[in-house]
Amino acid sequence: MLEQEIKIPASHAASYRIIIGMDILGSLWSRVEADFAGYNKFVVTDENLVSAGHLQKLLGREKAPTFIIKPAGETSKNIDTAVAIIEAMEKAYLGRDTLVVALGGGTVGDIAGFAAAIFKRGVLVLHIPTTTVAQADSSVGGKTGVDSSISKNAFGAFWHPAAVYIDVATLATLDDRQFRAGLVESVKHAIIADSEYFDFLECNLDAVFGRKPDVLEQVANWNCKIKGSVVEADPGEKNLRRILNYGHTIGHAVEAASGFELLHGEAVAIGIIAAGLIEIEMKLAEPGRLERIRQILQKLNVPVTLPKELADKDLIDLIKRDKKAVNKWPKFVLISKIGEVYSHDGQYVVDVAPEVVEKVLDKL
Ligand SMILES: NC(=O)c1ccc[n+]([C@@H]2O[C@H](COP(=O)([O-])OP(=O)(O)OC[C@H]3O[C@@H](n4cnc5c(N)ncnc54)[C@H](O)[C@@H]3O)[C@@H](O)[C@H]2O)c1
Ligand SMILES: [Zn+2]
Repeated sequence: MLEQEIKIPASHAASYRIIIGMDILGSLWSRVEADFAGYNKFVVTDENLVSAGHLQKLLGREKAPTFIIKPAGETSKNIDTAVAIIEAMEKAYLGRDTLVVALGGGTVGDIAGFAAAIFKRGVLVLHIPTTTVAQADSSVGGKTGVDSSISKNAFGAFWHPAAVYIDVATLATLDDRQFRAGLVESVKHAIIADSEYFDFLECNLDAVFGRKPDVLEQVANWNCKIKGSVVEADPGEKNLRRILNYGHTIGHAVEAASGFELLHGEAVAIGIIAAGLIEIEMKLAEPGRLERIRQILQKLNVPVTLPKELADKDLIDLIKRDKKAVNKWPKFVLISKIGEVYSHDGQYVVDVAPEVVEKVLDKL
C-alpha cells in the first residue's frame, strides 16, 4: 500500500492523506471508522457501483445510510440531486459531525463533494474513486460542483477532501471505453510534469490495459503525486494549477461540438494533439515529440484527429466561449519538452494568435 500527504494549509482540511492499494476495498470501511471515529458516515454512490458489487464490498456487514444516484452519469449531476442528498442527510438526523463517503467516479465525487461543501455550511467528504478519471484527477484537488441546464459545473465550490482512499482493483469492472478515455489525463500529467512517467506509460501500456493491479497502483501513485503537488502549490488556480488544463482549451470545444458524444478524455486527446501542432507552429517543439505523444494516444484507442462530422463545426466560436477566456480569447498551456510546461514571464498560460489556432484546426 502506498501513501501520500497533500498539504493545503489555507483550507478547512489543512492536509489530507491519499492511500493507494490493490484489492483493499473490503478493508476500507474499518479504516474509515478508525480514522474518522466520532463522525456519522453517509455514503453517496451510484447504481452501477451497486450492480458491480463495490458498495457491498465496501460496507461488508456494516450498515450506513446511503444515497444511490440513479441514473448513473452526467445527467444526474445537477442541483436536484444535490438537494436530494442534502434532504436525505437531514432525514437521517445528520449534523455537522457528518463524513460523506463518495464511492464512485468523478460524477459521484463532484456531486457528493458539492453536497458536503454546502450541507450545514460544510461537512467532511472522503473520496473512494473508482474510475481512471477519478483516481487520476477528480478525487484530488478539491473541485466540486454540479451542472445547470446551461453549463457544466455552474454551481460549485472548492472543498478539499478529508482523505482519498484508492483501490485500483475497482477498475476491473469499468467499461473499456471509459477506462481508456480516463487514461488520457494520465498521459497529460506525464506530458506536463514528468518525462520519466511518460517513459513508464510508453513501456507499460499493455500491462495497464490488462489492468494489472501493481502497474495500476504505480500509475495512480504517479498521478496523485503530480496533481497533488500542483494543487498544493496553487490550490486556488491562480497560475501553476492552470497547467492541468493542457489540451483542454481545444478539447473542451471539441467535446461541446460533439454534443458530448465524445467522452471528455477522447476530446482532450484531440486537444493534446492540437496543442502539439500549436507548439510546432510556434517553434517550441523538438522533432518527433508530437509523434511520440500521438503514438501513445493511438495505443489508448482514443481519437487523434478531428472526427469528420465535426469538421464544419465552428470550433473557433466555441473556443471564444471558453470559461477562462478574457476579451473572448483564452490563453493556452504549451510545453517546451515532454515533462515541462512552457512559461513566459513567469506565467504558465501564454498567448496564441487566433490565426495560429485556425491553421492548426485545419490540420487536425
Ligand atoms: N472535480 C474535478 O477536478 C474533476 C476532474 C475531472 C472530471 N471531473 C468530472 O468527473 C465527471 C466524469 O467522471 P468519470 O469519468 O469518472 O465518469 P462517471 O463518474 O460518470 O463514471 C462513468 C460510468 O462508469 C460507472 N462506473 C464508475 N466506476 C465504476 C466501476 N469501478 N465499475 C463499473 N462501472 C463504474 C459510472 O456509474 C458511470 O456510469 C464529469 O462530471 C467531470 O466534470 C471533475
Ligand atoms: Zn480533464
